[in-house]
Amino acid sequence: MTKTSIPSSPSSLTTLSDTEHDLPMAPPEILPTTEKKPRLTFLFVTVILGVLIFLIALVSTFMTRSKVSQEAVSTPIRESPSPTAAPIMSTLAPVVPKTPPTASPTVTSSLSPTVRSPTTAPTRIAFDPGNLVKDSSQGLLLSVGLQARILAQAGQPVQYNVTHQSSLPFHAMPDFGATFVDTRPENPGGWIYVSNSEVRRPWYQGGVGAITFDSQGHIREYRMILTNTTANCGGGVTPWGSWVSGEEYREGLFWQVDPTGTRPPEILTVGKEKGMYESFAADPQRNQYFVTEDFETGPIRRFIPSSTHPTDPWKTLHGEGETTYLYLQPTSEQEGTYTWISNKNRAQSNAQALFPNCEGIDVHGDKLYFISKKIETVFVLDLAGNSYTSYSTRQGLFQGQPDQMIQLQGNADNTLYFFTEDGSASAGVHARNRAGQIFTILEGPTYSNEVTGLAFSPDKTRMYIAFQDDGILFEIVRQDGLPFSARSLNLRYHSSAFDTV
Ligand SMILES: *[C@@H]1O[C@H](CO)[C@@H](O)[C@H](O)[C@H]1NC(C)=O
Ligand SMILES: *[C@@H]1O[C@H](CO)[C@@H](O)[C@H](O)[C@H]1NC(C)=O
Repeated sequence: MTKTSIPSSPSSLTTLSDTEHDLPMAPPEILPTTEKKPRLTFLFVTVILGVLIFLIALVSTFMTRSKVSQEAVSTPIRESPSPTAAPIMSTLAPVVPKTPPTASPTVTSSLSPTVRSPTTAPTRIAFDPGNLVKDSSQGLLLSVGLQARILAQAGQPVQYNVTHQSSLPFHAMPDFGATFVDTRPENPGGWIYVSNSEVRRPWYQGGVGAITFDSQGHIREYRMILTNTTANCGGGVTPWGSWVSGEEYREGLFWQVDPTGTRPPEILTVGKEKGMYESFAADPQRNQYFVTEDFETGPIRRFIPSSTHPTDPWKTLHGEGETTYLYLQPTSEQEGTYTWISNKNRAQSNAQALFPNCEGIDVHGDKLYFISKKIETVFVLDLAGNSYTSYSTRQGLFQGQPDQMIQLQGNADNTLYFFTEDGSASAGVHARNRAGQIFTILEGPTYSNEVTGLAFSPDKTRMYIAFQDDGILFEIVRQDGLPFSARSLNLRYHSSAFDTV
């Protein structure tokens, strides 16, 4: 994707202040009362001594407990508590610190098997979306209860484990990314994260890189699955589990790429005449495919293959077929009807007038969504009919320029929409819940201002994001081990700059 500068107000940050972890006040001293008889005095002294010893023990255990909670907040990397602290904590059950409670047993029991054993993490912190705290080691501001690790850095080998690393350095300018279940029998339960490389100059230095994870989320391999291409920017996922990558330069093409790297990449029939290509979307129900071109006169193309390939759907995108172009006929500012025409020139003028510079495109059921970046508008076409509507992204769901949006279906009332934005003062990942509350999941104030490659592992416990110009790829997980679609323990979503809109 290319950059534009739409300003947006900086987010106000909520950080945990030190006062929230202040040690409890020492209990008031107990003064001895006057004695009447020597025997009573002895009894009295014994009782008072006993009470004092108890109080000292109470205060010291309280301090230990507060310290443990404080460490858990400032250092998300879990450590087992010292052997002396553990039994004391268990005897002090009624004393509740101000910090969030550790995960309840029901949460622990629902952990997926890919998450580290709960015994290593006695001080889990509840996920508190929007409550940002500084993660000083990584230069990120993370919502409380999240944990980040760097997976790869452009120009450096990808570290698999202490003894192994990739022979290739990680690609520069990581852009759109997606995850796929690894279909190879030698990696059961594993998955693959693919990532476009938007290197523009010199030509033929872009491509697509792929990181393979095993079923535990450990990196097994990094390799390039498409090379000798230029400015690989957007793309899309096919219904049969391959990746389509678009080249955004004047000689651009669309490529179908096998995430495992087994099948050689192939050029799509649609767009063979070359262009500034961006994204791809499939409508499996009607066997039709759509692509966008990020250019002022870039039309939206629709491809309908002449034949189906039930045994090898990969071929669907490379054979003969019909390409037509979108033509909108507005009836008011926000709605109208549409047709697909074969006259490219007419379609180009129509795009220039009504939907210039299109980026993301997606199909959900009977709806085709695409974003015209230049006029900050989302268009929604009814694929079952011939009408469309549009709405501005300047207000409401988004504030700047939504770049990528992923809908995570949780339990009925907990659908979350995760999105990244260009042009914010501080680039980050944001989410919106069904109630319309928008909150910041993380920000990277020390990194370049474009967050790319947002994707989730198939079980949704891991989020992947990249800071494009820095070439850094992060993995973000919830410390409670739950998927990002799960309800957070703390239902009090914090506000961010977004709800001032
Ligand atoms: C490290 O990774 C390599 C490559 O995936 C693998 O062959 C090797 O067994 C791993 N070593 C350890 C100690 O996990
Ligand atoms: C790289 O791509 C260009 C343009 O398609 C082509 O002319 C060239 O032969 C390719 N080089 C290699 C090594 O495949």
